[in-house]
Amino acid sequence: MDNNKAVTMEKLVNLCKGRGIIFPGSEIYGGMGNTWDYGPVGVEIKNNIKRAWWKKFVQESDNSFGLDAAILMNSRVWDASGHTTSFSDPKMDCKECKTRHRADNLIETYSKGTVNPDKMSTEEMQNYIAEHEVHCPICGKFNWTPIRNFNLMFQTSRGVTDESQNVIYLRPETAQGEFVNFLNVQRSTRAKVPFGIGQIGKAFRNEITPGNFIFRTIEFEQMEHQWFCKEGTDLQYYEYYKKAAWDFLLSLGFKAEHLRYKDHDKLAHYAKCACDIQYLFPMGWSELNGIHNRTNYDLSRHQEFSGKTMQYIDPVTNDRYVPYDIEYSIGCDRLMLAALSEAYEEQDLDGGDTRVVMHFHPALAAYKAAVFPLQKKEMGEKAKEIYKDLSRHFMCTYDDAGSIGKRYRRQDEIGTPFCVTVDFDSLTDNTVTVRDRDSMVQVRIAVSELAAYIEDKIKIY
Ligand code: GAP
Repeated sequence: MDNNKAVTMEKLVNLCKGRGIIFPGSEIYGGMGNTWDYGPVGVEIKNNIKRAWWKKFVQESDNSFGLDAAILMNSRVWDASGHTTSFSDPKMDCKECKTRHRADNLIETYSKGTVNPDKMSTEEMQNYIAEHEVHCPICGKFNWTPIRNFNLMFQTSRGVTDESQNVIYLRPETAQGEFVNFLNVQRSTRAKVPFGIGQIGKAFRNEITPGNFIFRTIEFEQMEHQWFCKEGTDLQYYEYYKKAAWDFLLSLGFKAEHLRYKDHDKLAHYAKCACDIQYLFPMGWSELNGIHNRTNYDLSRHQEFSGKTMQYIDPVTNDRYVPYDIEYSIGCDRLMLAALSEAYEEQDLDGGDTRVVMHFHPALAAYKAAVFPLQKKEMGEKAKEIYKDLSRHFMCTYDDAGSIGKRYRRQDEIGTPFCVTVDFDSLTDNTVTVRDRDSMVQVRIAVSELAAYIEDKIKIY
């Protein structure tokens, strides 16, 4: 591909702002680092991503149940999970320009990826930076504070006093809501192990590294699924979810050559084995989602800290045990960024024209159809009728401004899969032209068959 036409983060940021997909957070006040707001088009795409995930991992998944737990939890939850002590990044301050940096990122950038800081202790990172005189990327000086581990959880306090016992945290992952409700879900649904709990919700992390648009934000949504199983079957389910996570991405239209597995070198405090699926983002290969074998660490810790049993009783054998857990976790916003990158194309058209087209899977596209009257005066009324009728089936948009060509371009840029044009013939024979976003082929369809025609093509399998 012509390099000038390749997708870049800058192009995506500009397109997203101009087309109502994503805006910089608090923009009129100069913004706020690593926060973004979803606009009218973006919120639809994001909701469609969540719907697609829920359909695959809750609706269509045998023995899986949904949950929507509170963001604010008893702070003992985070003591039990290990987040109050272990959920931190190694950070250093530049004494010259007063900027804060992650030591692991400094090493990775300095060594151009040849050194893996995930395999280093804090002391080894400290020594590496000293020996190689790794300079501050902002001011170019070499004058660092020692590495300190900063906890990534945002904390606030409950009530009117500010005493330490009132400290509460914004959850840094949704998973703990699934663990503390493990027996509530199991008992209320009479589920038998193995079974799953899926949840979509906000998580918060005090990230200081540059975010790369919506790749890394301080507030984001996670889509997490815990699969509770008996010890000994865990590795089989770990492999199962690695494949299920991969297949889900293919079903959304991702190309296999833009995806790869990456085993973790440094395991989280709760994991027996873990891997990511990485996506080839505009800034390079980076984590899209994670699959962890969390063993029975979380449930056992909650049993210990709460004093309440987390044991499952097998109804056939009467065995009592704390199940193992295979976790599949993907950031909705990160998947949105991947979907935007995957969809983006700049095309040269016949006659010297060009277009930017977003080839979203139709199930993800904000609007499934855009309805245009060829001429506002003569066909406006009929076009509005068709628009209203289609809107009862799926999200649609209406546009009667400018030439049909310009209207097509606007829809291509937000990835609307079908454009429906109402013309002179429509007034007499009740048919319309439907133009396909990707092939640009136009077909004539009876208005009575329009909704079914489009509905059939926007399904996700
Ligand atoms: N419960 C496991 C867990 O939270 P994680 O690897 O820290 O594991 C899971 O996060 C997923 O959440 C990541 O693969 C990524 O898609 C998303 N994610 C994590 N931090 C994020 C951030 N700061 N901004 C956006 N998405 C993030």
